[in-house]
Amino acid sequence: MMPELSTLLGGLTPERFLAEYWQKKPLLVRGAVPEINQLMSRNDLFHLATGEDIESRLITRADGWQMHHGPFSLRQLKRAALPWTVLVQSVNLAHAAGDALLRRFDFIPYARLDDLMVSYATDTGGVGPHFDNYDVFLIQGMGSRRWHIGKQKDKTLIDDLPIRIIKDFRPTQEWLLNPGDMLYLPPQWAHDGVAVGECMTFSVGFRTPTAQELGEQFLSFLQERLSLPGRYSDPDLKKPRHAAEIGTAMIDQVETMLSSIRWNRTTVRNFLGTSLTEPKANVFFDPPAHPLTIARFAAAAKRKGVVLSPASQLLFSGNQFYLNGEDWKMPAHVKPLIRELANHRTLKIAQPTGVALAKDVLDDAVGLLYEAYCDGFLWPAS
Ligand code: SIN
Ligand code: CO
Repeated sequence: MMPELSTLLGGLTPERFLAEYWQKKPLLVRGAVPEINQLMSRNDLFHLATGEDIESRLITRADGWQMHHGPFSLRQLKRAALPWTVLVQSVNLAHAAGDALLRRFDFIPYARLDDLMVSYATDTGGVGPHFDNYDVFLIQGMGSRRWHIGKQKDKTLIDDLPIRIIKDFRPTQEWLLNPGDMLYLPPQWAHDGVAVGECMTFSVGFRTPTAQELGEQFLSFLQERLSLPGRYSDPDLKKPRHAAEIGTAMIDQVETMLSSIRWNRTTVRNFLGTSLTEPKANVFFDPPAHPLTIARFAAAAKRKGVVLSPASQLLFSGNQFYLNGEDWKMPAHVKPLIRELANHRTLKIAQPTGVALAKDVLDDAVGLLYEAYCDGFLWPAS
């Protein structure tokens, strides 16, 4: 586990950070995450980039910008034309300490959270001046990186490049970040980070979807659940005056049929719950190869508690729970426990002192958690 990250906001309370900086202006925090170098080594990251089930990119700049998608062999990385940078997405899903780093930002709702991206660059490497559609906390790992940032209106990108580079970058501020330093940037701020020597950067990103993206996702959510009654019929059809004309009776009938496509606040809540917890395309859960019996699982869970797999997404809204893209049904009396699991991603189900939960609550909770354990969504804490 990571040591306590008490310095994260440089002495600001989360409330003050949210009121003064969040989505408003950048914040530089020196020594925000002093323990960052223990989180992941360069080799750990390279190893992740060799994986099939993780999204990685290699960007080089030897003769113009070039981008390749992973997985990469270690040899490929080591032989890349200088300078180069490798970026690995969603490291939190594969790496418990990465997940723990991300969860330190729990003063922002998990529903806004996207992922932890980790990059490694050789000296002078970087991805060029660009802007992101994310709120991002850029935490410097090993080495140093020089950041230039600016809030420019002109966001025109250079045409025909494999990556997004701003045409006319006009930075207004500059900082050299050293290990543990952190820079918060609101969405759409132009920025360019250049490695000074070898460098690793940890980016904690928070999504800000456009209305168009939300609308498209919502319509596909509705479509998957659509079940409309009836069929077009016209037993009273009269011979048309013009064979090519779409008649008003047809328009009326179809309008009536389509008006039974309805949604309300509950539909929107279910859309958000299932889509925000939906595993990314490359995420697979490994059910335990030799699952514990329920009795052994119960004993282990009562002794040490349970933890969510780093890849599991558990959110709730009111009394409704969503786990990995599904509506998670459960008896009302276990909901306070599962809410605890959602918030802390770990749950002690019996206190060490033995303060007892009612037996039926405990049994129901264990039964529910056991099913999730068999799916590979969580496991007993070690
Ligand atoms: C990087 O880690 O190289 C890039 C991070 C960013 O600019 O968003
Ligand atoms: Co960026």
